[in-house]
Amino acid sequence: MADRIKKVAIFGASGNFGTPITAALVKAGFEVTIVTRPSSKSIFPNGIQVIRSEYTVAHLTAALAGQDAAISVVGPAAITSNVAMVEAAAEAGVKRFIVNDFGWGPDFASEPEFAAIGDTRHVAWDRAKQLAIENTGFTWTGITIGNPIDWALKRFPLMGFDVKDYTATIYDEGTEQFTGTTLSGIGQSVVGVLKRPDATANRFVKARSIQTCQNELLAAFQIVTGRRWEVHVGKVSDLRESGKQKHQDGAGGWVLDLLVFQLFEPGKGRCIVASHEDSDATLLGIPEETAEDIALKAL
Ligand SMILES: NC(=O)c1ccc[n+]([C@@H]2O[C@H](COP(=O)([O-])OP(=O)(O)OC[C@H]3O[C@@H](n4cnc5c(N)ncnc54)[C@H](OP(=O)(O)O)[C@@H]3O)[C@@H](O)[C@H]2O)c1
Repeated sequence: MADRIKKVAIFGASGNFGTPITAALVKAGFEVTIVTRPSSKSIFPNGIQVIRSEYTVAHLTAALAGQDAAISVVGPAAITSNVAMVEAAAEAGVKRFIVNDFGWGPDFASEPEFAAIGDTRHVAWDRAKQLAIENTGFTWTGITIGNPIDWALKRFPLMGFDVKDYTATIYDEGTEQFTGTTLSGIGQSVVGVLKRPDATANRFVKARSIQTCQNELLAAFQIVTGRRWEVHVGKVSDLRESGKQKHQDGAGGWVLDLLVFQLFEPGKGRCIVASHEDSDATLLGIPEETAEDIALKAL
């Protein structure tokens, strides 16, 4: 299938990850079409074709006609639309569908509170697998990115770094390792899949830009800002407790508490998506970045 993917449709192009993915696709020379819902108020970059379509199989089959590949990177509010996107892509003769993971992949042992969210996401993944068996022209890929590190550090001070106030909360010893993929790494991961379609067919690929820990990030933030940060000490066991309590009470905020708990739970390495050698970073052309690169991006 190599060199046969030129025309690429993307759902969710204006989102947190859709924006850098769309930019990376355009930069890499793909002919990009954005597919969006009729009610979308999103603003899209000039010069890219935009198709507004109801998210039904019939409408989307027409919208995707002539595309070589399609990507879903819609947000959590639209996850149930993913099945229609996959079915329409197969029906329209799209050769590769990049299913909506951009998370932790199929094998991640999440806290049980995430089961319902996980089940909803897996429906479209399973449908893509089934269609690839039934339809020899249709293939799929999932992209597992782990922690979207520069975006998450900037957006969520609960990850331990308040980039506005130069304060840090170091959980436990601050030594728990995890992997992260930057926004530019996420964009490159999609480009990499579409440029290496044979090597990435019908599987989840593992992306990463860095493997690090809080202490290393704190040192990097201090170097790039040229000042000492005020450091507080936290315990991820407190986040586990508060997240589970909020979930039980039907309150918001539990997702972030438990995500940060999973990231830094001491001694588990549970958020290392893959070692550099075992990952697909080289295959996909994602460069390894330093903690200082990440700190600069987060600032
Ligand atoms: N690994 C992680 O920690 C992590 C973190 C964040 C996100 N993610 C995952 O990455 C993927 C993309 O997330 P994101 O944060 O980039 O998404 P997002 O910014 O919240 O939304 C992306 C796009 O989805 C579409 N959308 C939103 N609400 C919709 C609705 N109700 N109905 C139909 N379409 C809707 C919109 O596109 P249009 O306006 O064009 O329709 C929006 O621009 C998701 O699978 C998410 O779970 C993972």
